[in-house]
Amino acid sequence: MASYIIEGGRKLEGEVTISGSKNASLPIIATSILNAGTTKLYNIPNIHDTQITLEILKYLGCKIKKSHGKIEINSKNINKKEIPEHLMNQMRSTVILAGAIIGRFKEAKFSYPGGCDIGARPIDLHLNAFQKLGINISENSGFITCKCDKIIGANINLDFPSVGATENIILASIYAEGTTQITNAAMEPEIVDLAKCLNKMGAKIEGAGTNEIKITGVQKLKDISYSVMEDRIEAGTLLCAGAITCGNISFPYRNPEHLTPIIHKLEETGCNIKVENKKIYLQAPKKLKAVDIKTLPYPGFPTDMQSIFASVLTIAKGTSVIVENIFENRYRYAAELKKMGAKITIEGKTAVIKGVRKLSGAKVKSTDLRGGACLVLAGLAAKGTTVVTDIEHILRGYEGLEKKLNALGAKIIKEGEK
Ligand code: EPZ
Repeated sequence: MASYIIEGGRKLEGEVTISGSKNASLPIIATSILNAGTTKLYNIPNIHDTQITLEILKYLGCKIKKSHGKIEINSKNINKKEIPEHLMNQMRSTVILAGAIIGRFKEAKFSYPGGCDIGARPIDLHLNAFQKLGINISENSGFITCKCDKIIGANINLDFPSVGATENIILASIYAEGTTQITNAAMEPEIVDLAKCLNKMGAKIEGAGTNEIKITGVQKLKDISYSVMEDRIEAGTLLCAGAITCGNISFPYRNPEHLTPIIHKLEETGCNIKVENKKIYLQAPKKLKAVDIKTLPYPGFPTDMQSIFASVLTIAKGTSVIVENIFENRYRYAAELKKMGAKITIEGKTAVIKGVRKLSGAKVKSTDLRGGACLVLAGLAAKGTTVVTDIEHILRGYEGLEKKLNALGAKIIKEGEK
């Protein structure tokens, strides 16, 4: 397993560039399955999760060409409708591809996506929605088979505003007969980006970004090119890296409104943040103040930023309380932070963090993607050297994180990557 070796105590200063959004790229890559032609995508981050997704498309029969930041996907000759188990298990969000395969071919076969380190990650909301669209679902020995003669538009109310379920319903109902109405839909910016891409292809989606989305079935999509939005969680991670190192960083960012809950919370800790001409500037204070956080569906504070913000709060003045309302097991990083001297106690959904003057470097283990990023930030601020192991979790979701941080003045060496 690969590791980051981090020399702590260095202030981050300067300008950095944010990569394309992992969580917008995955469903947008799936749209290329719906269009029996060529889809050109730009600003797709070159990370493990997008690599796996493209590998699945190749397995299905897509022809993929990559050059200078452009990914060209020709899905004319897809000849398989089954997502192979060994690829399905490598990444939870491959279930999104199922919606696109069903949307085009009226059938799909896939295995249950692995639960993961942050929770059980069930897909009941996805499957219930598929059934409402007239799709027959059968399950045996861990495989799910979906089949129907036609997909019929339906009214679907989500018990929870699930991002993945909202995306899957949109993908599966693009060619449906009639109209599909999703109520209690997720409102994340990645849903808006997916709808913008599909509408450019000729789909008819209204209301993306609100909790009511209407999809009117169409007959055909067309070849387009599309540039994916920036990664708001990577942007939040870099802002927090500036905050935890008393630094002064900036980056160009097209949609600063996506970062509102993160910016407001960082301002509460005493950071000075300016948004000017599509650029974001952060100047950290000498001493951060403790704040309370509750994770909520967008536009609330994002669950993906919970562990990353927790590392900032370990050295803030005072006591912070975090409540994680989205996933049931998203505090696994806490035990690793404690090895660095953090004072953090977990009680069910709640974490209480008592700020300490300084963290000290230690050998710690990435537990998951965002938990790993949290440990990197703690290492940046800690006295001495921190070794973060199992960084494959981090490489799944961040494109060149150590390169970006080193360009801002960090000293991180990556070791042992295969
Ligand atoms: C997406 O996951 C993101 N992943 C997650 O980011 C993000 O944390 C999450 O949305 C919430 O914003 C991608 O977009 C690839 P959900 P998703 O369905 O779609 C429960 C990261 O770090 N649920 O909104 O899986 C579920 O268990 C990742 O980049 C059901 O109960 O999230 C969870 O408690 C982590 N049944 C809650 O809903 C279902 O059928 C939110 O899940 C589906 C979900």
